[in-house]
Amino acid sequence: MKTNPWTLSVLLLLAGPLGADPDWYEEYPDWADPDWHVEYPDSFCVVEGSTATIPCSFTHPAGRRVERVVWCTNDEFCQRLVFNVYDSSSVRADRRFQYLGDRVGNCTLKIIKMVKRDTAMYRFLFQANVDKYTGPKGVIVKVTDGEDVKVRSSVTDHVVKEGGQVTLTCTSACSFHQLDVHWYRNGHALSDTGPALHLSGLTNNNTGNYTCSLDSSGQKTSAPWSLLVLVDEGRFVWHLTVSVVLKVLWAVFLLLLAGLVFAKRSAPGPEHEIVYSEVVG
Ligand SMILES: *[C@@H]1O[C@H](CO)[C@@H](O)[C@H](O)[C@H]1NC(C)=O
Ligand SMILES: *[C@@H]1O[C@H](CO)[C@@H](O)[C@H](O)[C@H]1NC(C)=O
Repeated sequence: MKTNPWTLSVLLLLAGPLGADPDWYEEYPDWADPDWHVEYPDSFCVVEGSTATIPCSFTHPAGRRVERVVWCTNDEFCQRLVFNVYDSSSVRADRRFQYLGDRVGNCTLKIIKMVKRDTAMYRFLFQANVDKYTGPKGVIVKVTDGEDVKVRSSVTDHVVKEGGQVTLTCTSACSFHQLDVHWYRNGHALSDTGPALHLSGLTNNNTGNYTCSLDSSGQKTSAPWSLLVLVDEGRFVWHLTVSVVLKVLWAVFLLLLAGLVFAKRSAPGPEHEIVYSEVVG
């Protein structure tokens, strides 16, 4: 049968976007094939400005050599060269995306100082000889404002005894690595930095409302956590008792001493006694 060239081109056009190109599929092993695998977390979220590490590992049938590794976003097969965040065969690279993995089985990706627009579905692709593999699932990475920052405490009660200790931790529903954590008491910045604030040997000066912040501008700040340091009443009463007893003892001693001196001075001598007895007798 003789095919009209016009009909043929129409058929090809239809086959292009709608049908599957058999050659193209051959390059991608079946996702159900257990010899091919990419493993990473399903999803995670980080606070804007954080440095995130996506743990990743991959396996392929023995005897193959991995020639190319790619990380891409929002692309099921990592085909679009333009949007790849990392491609071992391309010199163009955003320095914020660092491939920490290798070509053997580790595909860990590090993303420095994440920004909101980094929110995406990330996928890893590796090419071993002619085959390319991405795996059926990617990892969803969400970059948040950090509006859920909270102060958590090592003690359940907000009232702590004098001399006691408490550790406050700055937390968020999303992870925040390599972010500066700032601490405040009643709105005044403390010199302490880091996700944990350890307060020991508590005195009344530690009483106040504590907040933590994930940036110096004061955004991403937690709600206040109030701490009340109680003066230890037991110890206070004991001190009071001891000092009162000592004072009483001292007063009694002084009185006795005074009494003794007075008695010595005013005590009648033996001659008087004799005189007195003579008068009486
Ligand atoms: C993969 O490489 C990263 C970065 O070097 C490392 O921290 C991680 O432990 C490695 N993972 C495995 C499973 O070896
Ligand atoms: C701490 O917060 C509480 C309630 O939020 C408030 O009543 C109190 O005055 C605050 N204390 C200081 C020292 O700001």
